[in-house]
Amino acid sequence: MADIQELVKARRHIKEFTDRPVAEEDVIEWLNTAIYAPNHRMTQPWEVIFVGPETRSKLNHPADFGHAPLVMAIVWKAPENAIERDENLISTAAMMQNFCLLAWAHGVGVRWTSIGWRQDIKDILGVPEGHEVLVVGVGYPETIPSVKPRTPITEKLRRLP
Ligand SMILES: Cc1cc2nc3c(=O)[nH]c(=O)nc-3n(C[C@H](O)[C@H](O)[C@H](O)COP(=O)(O)O)c2cc1C
Repeated sequence: MADIQELVKARRHIKEFTDRPVAEEDVIEWLNTAIYAPNHRMTQPWEVIFVGPETRSKLNHPADFGHAPLVMAIVWKAPENAIERDENLISTAAMMQNFCLLAWAHGVGVRWTSIGWRQDIKDILGVPEGHEVLVVGVGYPETIPSVKPRTPITEKLRRLP
């Protein structure tokens, strides 16, 4: 497995995938590790859906998730209470980043989409009321984009006495 610092820097958002399948048991293993993410009060607010071909075609994503061999939806509880809602989102994002890094360590990339904010997409996926969803494509990259430079943290760091 790659060095953690290299891994964090090397991971890229992948837009196009080869047709090489990703083993479901590998994805489950990475998810089972990813869930060791920090989460407030051990709420573990996430659930995962493997999206089959029938449902995937209903989602009608404009780029068909870059032809990813696997489409996955991550659902989390989003209660009325703003603190709980944000903490669930943050916990789920931490879990997803863990997953992205674990997948990347095995040569597998993830395409994030924003379609999950749409009510019609939630309906197709059967996302219950009071929940949110992130839909991603998972697969072996067709191409790996170059790194987008980041603003050094020293330019975003301040100190308090
Ligand atoms: C919450 C979230 C939503 C995103 N939605 C999209 C999206 O709808 N389409 C897309 O092409 N990339 C999306 N991205 C990926 C970002 O564009 C990408 O992470 C960013 O450009 C940095 O590139 P890198 O991940 O390769 O370092 C999303 C990322 C996040 C965290």
